Amino acid sequence: MVRVSAPLLGLLLLCCFGFLAPPAAAEYVKYRDPLQRLEVRIRDLMNRMTLAEKIGQMVQLDRAVVTPEILRDYSIGSVLSGGGSVPLPKATPEDWINMVNGFQNGSLSSRLGIPMIYGIDAVHGHNNVYKATIFPHNIGLGATRDPDLVKRIGAATALEVRATGINYVFAPCIAVCRDPRWGRCYESFSEDPGIVQQMTDIILGLQGEIPENSRKGVPFVGGQDKVAACAKHFVGDGGTTRGINENNTVTDWHGLMSIHMPGYYQSIIKGVSTIMASYSSWNGEKMHANRDLITNFLKNTLKFRGFVISDWQGIDKITDPPHSNYTYSVLAGVQAGIDMVMVPFNHTEFIDTLTGLVNGEFIPMSRIDDAVRRILRVKFTMGLFENPLSDQSFLDQLGSQAHRDLGREAVRKSLVLLKNGENADGPVLPLSKKAPKILVAGTHANNLGYQCGGWTITWQGLSGNNNTTGTTILSAIATAVDPSTEIVYRENPDSNFMTSNNNFSYAVVVVGELPYAETAGDSRDLLIAEPGYNVISTVCGRVKCVVIVVSGRPVVIAPYLDQMGALVAAWLPGSEGNGVADVLFGDYGFTGKLPRTWFKTVDQLPMNVGDANYDPLFAFGFGLTTEPVQAN
Ligand code: GLC
Repeated sequence: MVRVSAPLLGLLLLCCFGFLAPPAAAEYVKYRDPLQRLEVRIRDLMNRMTLAEKIGQMVQLDRAVVTPEILRDYSIGSVLSGGGSVPLPKATPEDWINMVNGFQNGSLSSRLGIPMIYGIDAVHGHNNVYKATIFPHNIGLGATRDPDLVKRIGAATALEVRATGINYVFAPCIAVCRDPRWGRCYESFSEDPGIVQQMTDIILGLQGEIPENSRKGVPFVGGQDKVAACAKHFVGDGGTTRGINENNTVTDWHGLMSIHMPGYYQSIIKGVSTIMASYSSWNGEKMHANRDLITNFLKNTLKFRGFVISDWQGIDKITDPPHSNYTYSVLAGVQAGIDMVMVPFNHTEFIDTLTGLVNGEFIPMSRIDDAVRRILRVKFTMGLFENPLSDQSFLDQLGSQAHRDLGREAVRKSLVLLKNGENADGPVLPLSKKAPKILVAGTHANNLGYQCGGWTITWQGLSGNNNTTGTTILSAIATAVDPSTEIVYRENPDSNFMTSNNNFSYAVVVVGELPYAETAGDSRDLLIAEPGYNVISTVCGRVKCVVIVVSGRPVVIAPYLDQMGALVAAWLPGSEGNGVADVLFGDYGFTGKLPRTWFKTVDQLPMNVGDANYDPLFAFGFGLTTEPVQAN
């Protein structure tokens, strides 16, 4: 017989009645185990999700209308900042982190605790954010012909985005702009699909280099210093007729595949996590409703395994007028293969409509499961379940000197020298740093907002030097020249001024376009802002001048070319104006090449390299060079 001591007997009795039951281990939840395979985690989580939770994951809302309670109660998949949607004016990184974490805690308190992903348009640096480094817009990066530079810009941008607690960017725009009258042409790297393909290397900077053994098409985000990227806008946004934004791209299958699709093929190979549908149409069919291209081609043929996101109210715009038949919009958009919908305001209307379509068996559950599987794949891949909340590890990255130096390098390499007129004294550029007296003139010489362009601090961009930090072209010139040089600055000098001040060694005239974004930038005449042309004529008619054009695209300049000593296309250089001075004064040579054709007259458009009757003012690929001047 087994003898049992009284104390042990007492202990056993207590255990039998549960008073000292061994502590229950926390329930093991497979999808929360990072050691589980990706697809196992996805399957486990999806098996636990209700239809409401699945549909919630397909919703993206703007920060202006969302609360932690909405995120919790509806299991919302994502939050965004639309252009200029900031926690408060000149918000600090800490303000951003607190806002994003506040929303995230709402998501984490939902039944299954699925973290949300926060998206923002960081399209030339972290451009919504005060004191961020503003890099040249894509057209300038295309002029550099330097994919490695662009990859480094992607990595720097990712760090600055993470500094504010954000983990997803709606970049890069890989549009192939075929008509500069398009208001978004500066968001396009080039008219040439080959350059656009090269520049998709920015994805490797934003997301990280994909591992050698990665399956093609699988999204990849390589760490907490990287962000999920978004190739946009699928497909053919840059080919709309006469450059009319959100309009119709008329081309055959070969034209679509050879010009507008190659960038997506490259982006998928490089592991892009998301792809955004275009507002535009292809041969009359809205891209947001194009199942053949989104599902059959992008997902099934190109094997893209990230998620497809709509543009802002993109499904509403499937109908004309927009939102005039929302049930049809939701049906057409989701059935086309859109996985996440940038609603971005009325989540209940979208959720109720989609729920009705699924319950009515108009949309099969398999389509919902495909969308949610893709969304979860991105979230698991980027480590969002393990690291849902942001810390202050990257605070010092925002606007860091290293990033500003990188921006300066990008500016140097993006400038294209179009004329360097020979005169009695030889070429005009590089300029002397030791001239006794120089004139700096023009609307864009001392305006940081103008040199950054659209998508800067606000959606449409701003004027002035107090909206963020950086270096104007005037300041850069003042820093570069010898202290003995007298600099006279006049935004709009008249002939009297020029007559009474006739002893300038040379003049730098900085003119161009005012900031714009999207449809607001659509142009029929491609003229620079007044009084730009007057300043050119008034100044260059009296003194040797260098004209710097700050614009998002080629503009009308031919009638004034003869008056100019030299002409530089600066595009939209961003916050680091020192890069302009670096090449003006010969610390570095000009190396940039035109990423797009520069027309003689607007009635030649559209005109792209390879076209018959190609008769440009300056051809695609043109760019004069200068040698660096040895420091004396
Ligand atoms: C805009 C743009 C798109 C941007 C989105 C969110 O309308 O078309 O490029 O990412 O809305 O701001």
